[in-house]
Amino acid sequence: MTATLITGIGELVTNDPALGDGSPLGVLHDAALVMQDATVAWVGPSSSAPDADERVDVEGRAVIPGFVDSHTHLVFAGERSAEFAARMAGEPYTGGGIGTTVAATRAASTNALRDNTTRLMREMTTLGTTTVEIKSGYGLTVADEARLLQVAGEFTDETTFLGAHVVPAEYADDREAYLRLVVGDMLAACVPHARWVDVFCDTGAFTEDEARRVLEAGIAAGLLPRLHGNQLGEGPGVQLAVELEAASVDHCTHLTEADIEALSGSRVVATLLPGAEFSTRSAYPDARRLLDAGVTVGLATDCNPGSSFVTSMPLCIALAVREMRMTPAEALFAATAGGARALRRSDIGSLREGACADIVVLGAPSYVHLAYRPGSALVESVWKGGIRALPACRVG
Ligand code: NIG
Ligand code: FE
Repeated sequence: MTATLITGIGELVTNDPALGDGSPLGVLHDAALVMQDATVAWVGPSSSAPDADERVDVEGRAVIPGFVDSHTHLVFAGERSAEFAARMAGEPYTGGGIGTTVAATRAASTNALRDNTTRLMREMTTLGTTTVEIKSGYGLTVADEARLLQVAGEFTDETTFLGAHVVPAEYADDREAYLRLVVGDMLAACVPHARWVDVFCDTGAFTEDEARRVLEAGIAAGLLPRLHGNQLGEGPGVQLAVELEAASVDHCTHLTEADIEALSGSRVVATLLPGAEFSTRSAYPDARRLLDAGVTVGLATDCNPGSSFVTSMPLCIALAVREMRMTPAEALFAATAGGARALRRSDIGSLREGACADIVVLGAPSYVHLAYRPGSALVESVWKGGIRALPACRVG
């Protein structure tokens, strides 16, 4: 067993209110942390740090839990920069471009999909993300959805079956047949490779009844529900998430008072995806309404080639603070502990004793710099499960 002591921490965010300043972030100053193999073994003041086999002095820098990106569509082929440029010239976003990515993904070899995902995962690591959820949804055949989830499973345990992303072109005249496929053979082929089931329940996507049918079939097959809802307009997504006790309802751009009330009386996390509003030039959700009602808010990238080709959680934090009325503390909590709750995980998203040693050292004295210095490369070092992921270990 190897113990590593990180000392000289100017500001340590633990996300444990029992530690430090009593705020939800549980901030300690002049702190140290010991990781023993894959977990955090000790947290406290630098002056009383125990001995360890190795010692890393971060000389006053801030240390935070690794980001938990609880919503991505990372396994795909191709790109849609022309669609983005058209939007920036005034075209609206409708989700209609998903079909372009479906065609490119079906045509891609499994190795090409794996290579693209590896590249995006590397990018995310350099930006401080240590846990990633990955959805299928660009295959939309039995074989392709299972293939995408198998690739996703090579990168994360948080895999999500999203066969109900859109109705593919070949079923345009028979959506009922597609739904039967999704809840039948496709689900059966995907269950062994997925933890979650998701559905795009929105204007022009799947209706409330269709979404309920997909989620209930997934639940009956042993998957846990989460959903895309209320992105393109007000709608039934939030209420359905509450009814089915989903872990999270994601986007939440258009919410009624009744939606906020339903969320506040539930355990459902409202996961906000500001990369999507940025990349579709849409109005941002008002996180303040959710936070003031006591709703747990998560922040994630929604990384996908259409509505949010964003891998950066620091960018999402900066947007949440500037555009969604979150404080820097609320945004950091949402990007770490909020994401962990959205994945129903208690072992990640915090730096308390016994937690996963998913640790990020910032090249800054405070986490506030994540929003205060948007666009700067502030992530200097990353440990994932106690293993150094950035800078990458040198060989020889
Ligand atoms: O989360 N909302 C549905 N799916 C993705 C968009 C996918 C795409 O445009 O390719 C999203 O925004
Ligand atoms: Fe999404």
